[in-house]
Amino acid sequence: MSKVILITGASTGIGRATAEYLTQAGYRVYGTSRHPFKEIVAFQTLILDVNDEVSVQSAVSQLLQRESRIDILINNAGLGIIGALEEVPEAMIQRVFDTNVWGLLRVCRAVLPAMRHQGEGLIINVGSIAGRMGLPFRGIYSASKAAVEMLTETLNIELKSFGIRACSVLPGDVRTNINETRLVAVNQNGSPYRHSVEDMNTKVNAEVSNAAEPIYIAKAIEKIIMTSSPKTHYVVGPFLQRASLWLKRFLPSRVFEYLLRENYGMK
Ligand SMILES: NC(=O)c1ccc[n+]([C@@H]2O[C@H](COP(=O)([O-])OP(=O)(O)OC[C@H]3O[C@@H](n4cnc5c(N)ncnc54)[C@H](OP(=O)(O)O)[C@@H]3O)[C@@H](O)[C@H]2O)c1
Repeated sequence: MSKVILITGASTGIGRATAEYLTQAGYRVYGTSRHPFKEIVAFQTLILDVNDEVSVQSAVSQLLQRESRIDILINNAGLGIIGALEEVPEAMIQRVFDTNVWGLLRVCRAVLPAMRHQGEGLIINVGSIAGRMGLPFRGIYSASKAAVEMLTETLNIELKSFGIRACSVLPGDVRTNINETRLVAVNQNGSPYRHSVEDMNTKVNAEVSNAAEPIYIAKAIEKIIMTSSPKTHYVVGPFLQRASLWLKRFLPSRVFEYLLRENYGMK
């Protein structure tokens, strides 16, 4: 029997590439979106909004009715945000945390009874290299992805005795739709941050547009699925972005922060 996989946020980007790749590899994949898929896709689809408990429960129970099991959950749905910490509106902060953190936990909680009943399961949470450092004007995003790592570590310990493993995948930049959906908090009324935030948005958009295609994350995820004993965290990204984590670990924080400011052309 091929394994049954649920992937949130499979309409575009990393989720879509992973859903297609794993379907081709022979898995029974259910990919989700908040809206009906307009085009025909290779995998099974479900409507799921991670912000809505009823929607999450309904999608998971539809899947269980069809398959009677969920072997792997890939929590991929997520939202980017740019803005100065002093100015980002509370509603935007709540939306990002509700999607990237609480939404992820909501889906975990919906699938865990089935996984515990099966006595096995794997949860793969999509975090980000940005979750390992407080990036300028991306502090809310960094914090939400740092939370994903901590939740993953706790899940892994709490679930071990039920035969369930949790791990996180931390991509660097990937060319996806995230530039179009990212929330940008720019205060137009005499804000001291306005130009810096706009500059950062332009730089991040360019980094993402020039980044590698999401298939390389899909391939990394398949390798994790094939591993008999997965690690808790996998950093998957270009050399320089992976190297930045080593620099952060070994350099004094003042030096690392100086390098970040230089990298982003900040005074
Ligand atoms: N691209 C990068 O450079 C990068 C780097 C590191 C980490 N990541 C992470 O990778 C994940 C995928 O992002 P992506 O780059 O592939 O972006 P994307 O192309 O914008 O895809 C985001 C996906 O999340 C779904 N989504 C958003 N809000 C949702 C909600 N409330 N409920 C359910 N689904 C929701 C969207 O589906 P619908 O709109 O169809 O519902 C979409 O399929 C995110 O967690 C992101 O933070 C991305």
